[in-house]
Amino acid sequence: MDRIKKYDHTKLIKNNDKEGLKDAAEHLNKGEVVAFPTETVYGLGANALDAEAVDKIFEAKGRPGDNPLIVHIDNKGQIADLVSEITPIAQKLIDAFMPGPITVIMKKSDKIPSNVTAGLDTVGIRMPINRVANEFISLCKCPVAAPSANLSGSPSPTRASHVMNDMNGYIYAIVDGGESDFGLESTVVDATGETPVVLRPGAITKAQIEEACLLKAGEHTSVSGNEAPKAPGMKYRHYAPSADVEIIDFPKGVDIKIKKDEELTEEQQRALFEIAKPYIMRAKEALASDPFKRIGIFCGKEVKDLFEMLKDNILLSHIEFFIYGKASDVYSASHCLFDGLRTLDDQKVDLILAAGFEGDGMEEAYMNRLRKAAGKKGEGVSSESFSRKREKLYDHDNVATLSVLFVCKNNRALSAAAESIFRKLLVAEEPYCLSDDRKVGAEVYSESAGIYAMDGENADSKMISALKGIGYDISFHKTTKAGASVYDRNDIIIAMRDEQAVEILKAFPDLEGRVFSMASYLASKGLVMKDDKGRVISLSIPDPEGENESTYAHTAKALEAWIKIMFPYLLKDLGIMRT
Ligand code: TXA
Ligand code: MG
Repeated sequence: MDRIKKYDHTKLIKNNDKEGLKDAAEHLNKGEVVAFPTETVYGLGANALDAEAVDKIFEAKGRPGDNPLIVHIDNKGQIADLVSEITPIAQKLIDAFMPGPITVIMKKSDKIPSNVTAGLDTVGIRMPINRVANEFISLCKCPVAAPSANLSGSPSPTRASHVMNDMNGYIYAIVDGGESDFGLESTVVDATGETPVVLRPGAITKAQIEEACLLKAGEHTSVSGNEAPKAPGMKYRHYAPSADVEIIDFPKGVDIKIKKDEELTEEQQRALFEIAKPYIMRAKEALASDPFKRIGIFCGKEVKDLFEMLKDNILLSHIEFFIYGKASDVYSASHCLFDGLRTLDDQKVDLILAAGFEGDGMEEAYMNRLRKAAGKKGEGVSSESFSRKREKLYDHDNVATLSVLFVCKNNRALSAAAESIFRKLLVAEEPYCLSDDRKVGAEVYSESAGIYAMDGENADSKMISALKGIGYDISFHKTTKAGASVYDRNDIIIAMRDEQAVEILKAFPDLEGRVFSMASYLASKGLVMKDDKGRVISLSIPDPEGENESTYAHTAKALEAWIKIMFPYLLKDLGIMRT
């Protein structure tokens, strides 16, 4: 989409400039676009009841108008007018979390022009808690439609200067409210049904939502982040800096809570080293392969301290640090993430190493954005880092994300092998795009689980060596217990054996149409194997457990052959193709 400069420069309005605020609000009301701060990120606002004004948002952002916008209000009294139904769940969410970093999706009323919602019959309503946001929206005297105020494709802005970089000359004004508190966009929850569905994780966590809605976590009907995306905007790549981004995992089981000025115990020092080590190793490795590389590191203060203790000046001369706070502080990391990515990008680094976190609170929202930024770029993705990204992403703004699950009994041999074989095929053929819209990228993941598996066990050692013999490595594999959430986050589920597919469907009838056994999948494609006498051979890969090495080797090879046959059909069923 072509962007046309409309102003010599965009006005920057300080939040204590009462006249300036009023002027900007009046201009917004009359059809101009104005950026404003919120507690999450800056928004690019226009009068939500004025279709022409809303079109200007898309022009300024440089993205086509097929991603729905959030409608911002300053008091709950406005909601009734904007929606046609407030479900009991919606009401609970409104009572519990508004004002705050949440967007509640409800059925829209006729007052809202269709370009606000990209033609959907639902609308996202959000009441920010940020004081400047509230004041500004209230001065506008209209509901304010606003996406994040970044240029399509760059990280969401958390400072007025970010907005200025992206929007100068394209919008009327920017209200400067300082740095955004949370730094990640709001939690988007679909509240049109009987249960809330988290479409985008944010500072309001799934657990909080479940508590407010009185739904128990973990039930199949409870809050799920994994329903089919309901918004068409999932096609657009967002949050991506120009540099490659790699996630450095926080080491498991390491806990450092260090009080200020406290002498570090030996144990704490060791913990610190555990946290910093992967950054140091990765930075050295990157420099070994390209001595001119410039590396950005988005990390906790302790990590930088350790780098400096090494006194390796050559290494340090290649590195720019962006410190978010204490290494273990996910709130600070979230607050700084977009700023950090933008800043390091401005410093023209080639590679950004960014801190990863594990957890299902704020960590989930943080990792959701970071994974988008780290979206695979070309080669260099080891199967291990690929497997870390297996959770299904809810990228409304992003690339389509799809995944295939392989299931067997205990996830120690067959399904783990299938996963790694399928993944290698995937990596060899990437990148992908949607078949019906080739401009849109697609990311494909694969995982495996066992109906009777425990979590976190190693793969069967005989299968590890059988696969090694034919070029696959599952030595890092850890078993996963299959269950509602695992099934939910995958688009296609392939069980190794017929009876396993039947068992899954018995427990989760909703999965009908997504679950197949290997045999039923191939048969559904008309691929029936016949022996020399023309008799149909039933395809059933026997579990090699307890058998000798040569049975394992044979099984691994057979599995590889079958998955190669299935591969193009799976891509087709996922709706994607090679670019
Ligand atoms: O924190 C935020 O939500 C920020 C600030 C400015 O409020 N806004 C924001 O807007 O992040 P945007 O356009 O960048 O993201 C809005 C998200 C998209 O993922 C969009 O697909 C989803 O909300 N969304 C909006 N309306 C929807 C609807 N009716 N149904 C489903 N998803 C919707
Ligand atoms: Mg956005």
